[in-house]
Amino acid sequence: MTDAAVIDAIGHHLPEARETNDELARRIDTSDEWIRTRTGIRARSRAGDDEPTSVLATRAGREALGRATNGGADVDTVIVATTTPDMKCPATAPVVASDLGLENTATFDINSACTGFLAGLATAAGLITSGNSRAVLLVGAEKYSSIIYPQDRGTSPIFGDGAAAMVLRPGYRQQAGAIGRVHLGSDGRLWALAHVLSGGSAQPLAADPHDPFLRMDGRATYRHAVARMTDSCQRVLKDESLTAEDVDLLVAHQANARILTEVARELEVPAEKALVDLTDIGNTAAASIPVALSRAQEAGVLRGGETVLLTAFGAGASWGSTVLRWPELTSPNLTTTEGPNR
Ligand code: UT7
Repeated sequence: MTDAAVIDAIGHHLPEARETNDELARRIDTSDEWIRTRTGIRARSRAGDDEPTSVLATRAGREALGRATNGGADVDTVIVATTTPDMKCPATAPVVASDLGLENTATFDINSACTGFLAGLATAAGLITSGNSRAVLLVGAEKYSSIIYPQDRGTSPIFGDGAAAMVLRPGYRQQAGAIGRVHLGSDGRLWALAHVLSGGSAQPLAADPHDPFLRMDGRATYRHAVARMTDSCQRVLKDESLTAEDVDLLVAHQANARILTEVARELEVPAEKALVDLTDIGNTAAASIPVALSRAQEAGVLRGGETVLLTAFGAGASWGSTVLRWPELTSPNLTTTEGPNR
């Protein structure tokens, strides 16, 4: 009897366009030097007007399905983790399923901001181990440029657009790629750390030009992100009877290079084991962890057998972590000029 969901395939899609720090500095009060030293970001990916979240998600989903066992023919659930759905209703997942030609699938979105992909992993694993789903396509997809107030220098430099998708299917706990315990948590009292005021039932219409866009208390978010990701990682490592020394790769939500360094230091994971995958794309929120994994797989950083620690913190304020042994996947080893810094 199956007792775990296992990773079968992964793929990603990033829009081609990039907005560099110098380009950004021409329209807001900032500089390349400030952004690089405070965030590690040199450019952020920008989807075009004809590329809503569903388009990015569908392209990533197509790549993952193309690499999956039987082309993912048995996928019966599509989950999209996103903070930037195409529209308020319906969810983005049915649009993606339809564009991928997946009929009669269960479809729903997960809105847990940057923690969305980890919440999605927990959900997909539950659906599979309970027998409710044969195979799940889990997508993290974001078009944050659609909720960034163009003049906001606290958010414009950070966020980018992109998507990545994973196919999960039934397997065994001892198998590489098995999803074990996913530690999820939140402190709802801190929901105002990062929020979009209008467009919901509390305030349907904008009273101020900034209301339809993201507001973020960057400094406080930074502090909570480091503390919560560290604590959550320590819990999952303890649950799995592992220590920081067992970790081959720390893939934290790609919020800010300084946050990645601090979490690694707190955990006593060597800095070179902390993946940095934001330099050329920025923070892609719910897409950042799967994009980082997919690019690490393509770059040959992940080959199979590595112990990978995943962790995220985002709006809500929500967080999550899990640790897994990376499987040997059949994706092509592409030569790419972009990708993680190791
Ligand atoms: O992904 C979901 C969760 N989000 C995050 O995890 C984001 C976490 N936060 C961050 O990454 C950082 O807080 C930011 C990158 C957003 C800001 O960096 P910071 O080092 O926390 O800067 P700060 O907000 O403390 O501001 C420091 C100074 C201020 O000037 P004064 O008051 O010291 O004179 C700001 O006005 O930097 C100024 N500043 C800027 N200067 C140039 C703030 N933003 C900018 C900017 N360009 N873009």
